[in-house]
This record gives sequence, C-alpha cells and structure tokens, in this order.
Amino acid sequence: MIAIPPVKEVSRDSLKASLLDARARTHELLQGLDDEQLMGPRLAIVNPLRWEIGHVAWFHEYFILQQGFGRPPLTHDGHLLYDSIAIAHHERWDLPLPPLQQTLDYLQRVEDALIGRLGAGTASALESYLYQFTVFHEDMHDEAFTWARQTLAYPRPDFALEAQLGPPADAAGGALDGDVHITGGEFLVGAMGDAPFVFDNEKWAHAVTVRPFAMARAPVTNEAFRAFVDEGGYGRREFWTDEGWAWRQSVDATHPVYWQRDGAGGWLQRQFDALAPLAPYHPVVHVNWYEASAWCRWAGRRLPREHEWEVAALGQPCADGSQLAAVKRRYPWSNESGNNESGSDGSHGGETAAAGCNLDGRCVGCVDVGALADGDSAFGCRQMLGNVWEWCHDPFTPYPGFVADAYKEYSQTLFGHTRVLRGGSWATRSRYITGLYRNFFGPSRNDIFAGFRTCALE
Ligand SMILES: [Fe+2]
Repeated sequence: MIAIPPVKEVSRDSLKASLLDARARTHELLQGLDDEQLMGPRLAIVNPLRWEIGHVAWFHEYFILQQGFGRPPLTHDGHLLYDSIAIAHHERWDLPLPPLQQTLDYLQRVEDALIGRLGAGTASALESYLYQFTVFHEDMHDEAFTWARQTLAYPRPDFALEAQLGPPADAAGGALDGDVHITGGEFLVGAMGDAPFVFDNEKWAHAVTVRPFAMARAPVTNEAFRAFVDEGGYGRREFWTDEGWAWRQSVDATHPVYWQRDGAGGWLQRQFDALAPLAPYHPVVHVNWYEASAWCRWAGRRLPREHEWEVAALGQPCADGSQLAAVKRRYPWSNESGNNESGSDGSHGGETAAAGCNLDGRCVGCVDVGALADGDSAFGCRQMLGNVWEWCHDPFTPYPGFVADAYKEYSQTLFGHTRVLRGGSWATRSRYITGLYRNFFGPSRNDIFAGFRTCALE
C-alpha cells in the first residue's frame, strides 16, 4: 500500500483544473526554444529540458497510475529513461530520449489517462493526495525550467497569466526599511494535523521556545547589496566563512552572478537574454547562502533561523502583546490562501495568485520590496511569500518523528547537506506554497530565484 499522509479530500474538478493549469505552464515554457536549446549544455545545475518534460509525465504515470491504481506502464521504457532516482544527473544527456513530438505525445497520453479515470464528485484521499502531489511536482519542475531559461540566457518566457493580471498596482513600491520586533514564547513549528495537504518534511507541528528577536520588514535590496559589492566585500576574507571563501575563490566571484558593470559606475543585471539596469528596490536575487552570509557579516546582521522565519510569517502576538499566541496561520495574511480560484474544500486548482503576493509568474520577475502590503504578516513582515526565496541560516533537517511519504526521496536524501529556503519566488505556484513550505538547496546554488532577509544581532 502506498504511504500517504492525512489529506483533505477535494473535488475531482479542482484536481483536473490544477493539472491542466500546470500543464499549460509547462507548454508555455517550451515555447521559443529549438531542439538544441531543449537539450542544452551538460551542467550540474540544469536538466536537459526534453528529458525534464518526459520525467514530469513519467512521475504522474508512476505515482498515480502505476503505484496508486495498479495500471500497467504506458511505455516499456519510461522507468529506464525518466526515473530521476535511478538515473544519475550527468547520464541524462546520453539517454536514447525520444524526439520532442514523441515526448509531448507521451505527456498527452498520461494526461488523458489521468483525467479519464477521475470522473466527477469528491476525490478519494488517495486521489486527492497523489494528484495534488504530482501536480506540485510539475510546478516545481516548471520553476526549475524557468530558472534554466535564466541560467542558459534563453529568451524571457511568455505567460498568459502575465497578460491577464500584469504586475500589482504598487509594484514600484520602493524600499521598506526597518525591523519588526517579535516577542518570544512557545511556538508550534511545522504543519498542524488538520492541514489540507502536507509535504513530508513539514510533519508535524512541534513546540519550540523562541527568544525575542528583530527581523527586517523586507528582504535585502539590490541597492543594499550593491554597497557591499562596491566596498569590495567579495575580496575581504573577514566577511566569509571558510567554505564561502573557498567557493568565492573557485569561481572568482566579485559580484552576484548576473550583474555586469555598465561602464559608468553603475550596474546592469542580466534577465534571461537581456540586460537591464539594476533595479535598486528589487530584492537581490541569484545570490547563494555564502554570499548572503557574507553580506550579513559586513552589515552586522544575521540570517534568520528557520523557526524564526516561520514565527515572523505565521505567528501572532497574544492580545496583550507579551507572548506569542497559541494559534498560527497557514499564510502570512490569514489562514486562507486568498487564491481567487480557491475552493471551499481547501483545493487550490486555479491559476490566480493571492492579491498580496508576487507568485505564479504574474510579473516574470521581481517587484520592489515595498510592494504588496496586503500580504503583510501579523508582525508586519512583507512578501514573506513570493518575489524571492529567502535563505535561512539552518541546515535542512527532519522534524522530530519524520516519516517519508509516497515519494520517499523527496526530502530525506537532502537532509543535512543543504540549507533551508522559505517563502517561494515570483515563479513559484500559489497552489502549493504556504508559510510552512520548506525548500532546500546546496549553499553554493546562485542559479535559483533566491535572496534573503536578515535579523538584528542579539
Ligand atoms: Fe522530479
């Protein structure tokens, strides 16, 4: 029997809507790329994109149709080509991959089978978990696909959602300085037992004692990071950890990876295949954990502990403000996503981001850190969800009593040697991101859409 955690049973219509919406984004990300670009260079930080499409299809087929409902495989070689656990990363360019149209045909056959077996009404717990999980998996690969287009300097993707929604009205909201002061007390970190959907690494809520701390209202901006760069921070050993200095020397970094000098004392930033002036009040993005930590030492600040990030995003003060309240939210602004398509059954099938967030690729890039006040947390932290992932100080470790679910390798192979990121980026889907969501990458990864926010030193 396949292992699934408790899950809220949702409507089959919402599962179909989620699947079709994720699929539409996958197709958008393919547009404008030729056969050569869809294989791309052999890099440790990207997949061959044609392989990634087949892998997404196979993942749906394997977990839902084969593991969940005992169907025979749709192809004889799916597991030989697309099992990401069995096939080492560097081997993926050497596989006998089918051509693009055949890969897309397989994707469509899996989609037809997934939708064909669903019917109407309320889905079972097994369907509710597996369909949502594999759609979220497609969403995560779509974000990876999006940053691969940045890594490889491919054209900016066109998303229908950007045309429909456009940027929020206050996208040019400028800076947002200052700290919020967060009271200490007991806090339950992790997913509560009544969560509509949980990832394995969120299980389960457990009490931690929080010391009072002060956290920045907004992530570090390009302008603030630039001061560190312009003062020669990349060349000053005292700001870097031993590992960070070794990384910096190995790649000869003197500034964030996509920055270029404009020849007149300023900076440009490459966005996909184009250069643009560095936007001063956008959060700094594409910096790794080492760069974030070095900036903190230079500025006399520190990265938040993971539990502090969650308190700032989801906690609330009690009525007299002296302690943390015993309740927590699921989203910074409330317990509801605010997603326009969100159903009363807790499903998140639709495509429209909550009003207070830069998510879902609605802007295909960052907005100013002062934008989107509607999404503030109870303590007054802004953009805790969306815009940029935020590095936390801590290594990624299991919560007490961790148990893996159906996709056993989702978290446990990454425990201990990656660092935690929280909050999602402009490319993350609102379907799955909450204030509980834990992302994890190695500390040298500066290709992902990551920035950071800081805390005051005690
Ligand atoms: Fe995957």
